[in-house]
Amino acid sequence: MPTSKLSVVAPLAGFLRPYTLQIGFFLTALLVTAGITLSIGQGLKLIIDQGFVGQSIERLNLAVLFIMGAAVIMAVGTYTRFYLISWLGERVSADIRSSVFNHVVSLHPAFFETNRSGDIMSRLTSDTTLLQSIIGSSLSIALRSAISSTGALIMLFVTNAMLSLIVIFTLPLILLPILFFGRNVRNLSRQSQDSVASVGSYAGEVIQHIKTVQSFTQEGLEKRAFGDEVERAFDVAKKRIAQRAVLTAIVILAIFGALSAMLWFGGRDVIAGEMTGGDLGAFIFYATLLALGVASLSEVYGEVQRAAGATERLMELLYAPKEIVTHSPIMTKVQDLPAVLTFKNVSFSYPSRPDERALDEFSLAIPEGKVVALVGPSGAGKSTLFSLIQRFYDPQLGLLTFGNHDIKTLDLMHLRRQIGVVEQQPTLFTGDVMYNIRYGRSDANDEEVIAAAKAAHADDFICRLPEGYKSNLGEQGVRLSGGQRQRIAIARALLKNPRILLLDEATSALDAESEQKVQWALDKLMRGRTTIIIAHRLATILHADQIVVMDSGRQVAAGSHRELLTTNAMYARLAALQFSADAAIDDPAD
Ligand SMILES: Nc1ncnc2c1ncn2[C@@H]1O[C@H](COP(=O)(O)OP(=O)(O)O)[C@@H](O)[C@H]1O
Ligand SMILES: [Mg+2]
Repeated sequence: MPTSKLSVVAPLAGFLRPYTLQIGFFLTALLVTAGITLSIGQGLKLIIDQGFVGQSIERLNLAVLFIMGAAVIMAVGTYTRFYLISWLGERVSADIRSSVFNHVVSLHPAFFETNRSGDIMSRLTSDTTLLQSIIGSSLSIALRSAISSTGALIMLFVTNAMLSLIVIFTLPLILLPILFFGRNVRNLSRQSQDSVASVGSYAGEVIQHIKTVQSFTQEGLEKRAFGDEVERAFDVAKKRIAQRAVLTAIVILAIFGALSAMLWFGGRDVIAGEMTGGDLGAFIFYATLLALGVASLSEVYGEVQRAAGATERLMELLYAPKEIVTHSPIMTKVQDLPAVLTFKNVSFSYPSRPDERALDEFSLAIPEGKVVALVGPSGAGKSTLFSLIQRFYDPQLGLLTFGNHDIKTLDLMHLRRQIGVVEQQPTLFTGDVMYNIRYGRSDANDEEVIAAAKAAHADDFICRLPEGYKSNLGEQGVRLSGGQRQRIAIARALLKNPRILLLDEATSALDAESEQKVQWALDKLMRGRTTIIIAHRLATILHADQIVVMDSGRQVAAGSHRELLTTNAMYARLAALQFSADAAIDDPAD
């Protein structure tokens, strides 16, 4: 993982390499335009010395023609330079954005528990945007300034070495105050933006909770508090304006002071005949170019540093190691293995809580085609078991096998294709019903999706939605009840047609009709599949081939409903608490 600013360069170079041709053209255009800019000084010299002083019309014409020609080449060069570098900024940041996202989606879930997802989002969006704008503008300015000030410096010495030394020594005197006040202005304008933003969010909150504000008749308090925020923002703005005014005054003073100094020193040389007027004009031109170049270099220096920071954060993400690795020899024909699962003395702690065992020496064998129901209090480790089967995490101790092979040796994609999951709170993506069911198998055609929905008893309610299968299920979309969401999830799992089924039953009581339909759908889904079900309903328990009671990551008992009622106190208590409500809605009145 890159840690120093310098190590950012190598991976970034990797992203630039495919565009060597564009970079080459860009650099050529940059050199040409810088050369032209520098030659303007020579043009100036020519005009002054030979046009006016020499009083020759032909020479004047020549000089003007020269400048016009230079302007045309300059225009073409600037167009090329600007287009290519902006293009490069956009292209490279788009490539980085995609690469980072492609890597991130394949990372193990534990990564997202130790890195906040908001952080990752902001790296993907704002860091890449920052990079794009900096490559596209600041870096370009930096390169251009570096080249033109180097050129200007050389031309200064070529024109008049003595005068150049004076310029070099006075330059810092002029630049330092400009840099100092410039930095102040930048900091204050950032503060200014922040305080305006906080005024905005204050108003936003009041408006959002307007009923509470009015109900408590706190309008007066809010007006005073908002007024304070506004005044604070104004105070910051006032400071910024004052600094900016000082900066402008200094710049004017410095520029004209420097000009006068050069005119004075240079003018004496011209009078003494040691220098031509044209040389003095060219000299002032190059000095100005140098000062502008240095000033803009210092201006964008901070930006380039920020770009390095952004790149570093992106590269960290890009090189974050994947922790779920498949051990060789890798078994890819997972679909040919029998759909049996075993846990042998599996112990597992979440990376964020290494001292607490979510599973503790857990053992269980799930035979092919059987239904195993897991029951136990919340926090017992039931969902953790599901995560381990899907290899979102690897256990620290013990062995987990699929088809009598250690799952660490199975190709991850092929393993997961064998497994279907119906979650307690099924995830629905922004998109229509069709899209959400098809998530189970992307190549399914519309008829297959509808068939799955029918099998999941979801077709009825889907057809009654405002736009049927085209109804949007996103945040702004139609609201589905818990039972309807579950049936969408079941249809999705049916479409995937997995051999192992992991079901997390909804805890909140579904309405009687939904309950019945979800049950039918589940019965259809479970047929012929090895099923593990986190059970909250009596009906499920009664149908299971085996019931496993879990507590604190351990298996505390196993057997049938009747056996466990008499032999296990925890089960009897759970049954009394959880399943009594079920009994009441066991024969639905519809
Ligand atoms: N992502 C996680 N990070 C840290 N601890 C977790 C995580 N998920 C669950 N746990 C903890 O692991 C234990 C088992 O949780 P879980 O498997 O979700 O229980 P259940 O599904 O039986 O309610 C609990 O103590 C829970 O707090
Ligand atoms: Mg759970």
